[in-house]
Amino acid sequence: MTQDLPLPGAVKAYPEPDAADVRELLLDWCGAEADDADDAVKALGALDPAARETADRLYQSIAADMGGRKWLGWPKPPEEHPLLGLYPLLAAVPDMLAFHRGRGIDEDLSRKVLADIGEKLRFNRRIHGRAGLDVANWFTGHLRGALHQLGRLQFCVEGPDPKPFVGMHIRGEGGPLTLDAVRDSVEWALEFFPTVFPERYDGPEDLVFMCESWLLDPQLRDWLPEHSNIPGFGALFDLQGPGDPAGNRSDLWRFVFGRPEDTPVEELPQDNTLQRSVMAGLKADVPWRNRFGRLNLSRLGL
Ligand SMILES: CC(C)(COP(=O)(O)OP(=O)(O)OC[C@H]1O[C@@H](n2cnc3c(N)ncnc32)[C@H](O)[C@@H]1OP(=O)(O)O)[C@@H](O)C(=O)NCCC(=O)NCCS
Repeated sequence: MTQDLPLPGAVKAYPEPDAADVRELLLDWCGAEADDADDAVKALGALDPAARETADRLYQSIAADMGGRKWLGWPKPPEEHPLLGLYPLLAAVPDMLAFHRGRGIDEDLSRKVLADIGEKLRFNRRIHGRAGLDVANWFTGHLRGALHQLGRLQFCVEGPDPKPFVGMHIRGEGGPLTLDAVRDSVEWALEFFPTVFPERYDGPEDLVFMCESWLLDPQLRDWLPEHSNIPGFGALFDLQGPGDPAGNRSDLWRFVFGRPEDTPVEELPQDNTLQRSVMAGLKADVPWRNRFGRLNLSRLGL
């Protein structure tokens, strides 16, 4: 699969981060934990020439597509180098900062978007019991300037049409998904995207917000407690299509239970209301699905 990536040096020299860069970027910019930064420095020293060449090519794929949409399809990191994708991402931080500056985006927002890397390192450690970044390619949206964190939510320029839609994404860290938090974020996005990408959006009326998530499954309403925010969030969307009938095991195992997808149902944790509610549904053979929908702004009073 690496043959889909640009060749080493195709765009510009790969500014491979050294140990000091890795530590500083992770601790000062990405809000990572000290043990993740230590392990990333150690793993950098252990990269063999083939892994270094792959990291170079991953970096090239970012540098060649600054300002592009969504995130790039990267190969999964090899078993022996679970942090491989991290280094080209860190190498691209100056490219992202230059892109943001050129578009008038505050450094504060650049820092916010990078903080997701620290979160996903924590998340990987929780799921797999060691440092790793299994969704490194997700961050190619962040580093290429497509994805931005505005308040509680992340928004990303996405979609194949000439006028891209704005995808909505929800980090785990950042507090409850209240309607007020969602409204504040969406209001910000309505102003942000036409200002930052005037060649794409003439004004707020041009924006279409879409979301694909396990959070949008209306069946959750029957299983979560009355006060739960998740069904209220799902109800903001006009759903499209029936959802994947194969279910959404990988997302539930990851986001709800924080466990690898091959964990047997009987070994899933039952530590909080959400886990107990989804488990009750699993035991009742509820066909949980990820759903795709368009945000209905009027339901937010916008
Ligand atoms: C999306 C999210 C922020 C919603 O959190 P929320 O606003 O607290 O959601 P709800 O109000 O519906 O939660 C209902 C209950 O489940 C708990 N809960 C919800 N998500 C939880 C999570 N990820 N871990 C632990 N408990 C959680 C809440 O604390 C609440 O418990 P309570 O009834 O004892 O008070 C949260 O589920 C989350 O962090 N998910 C991970 C990220 C994710 O799934 N993103 C989307 C990817 S497609």
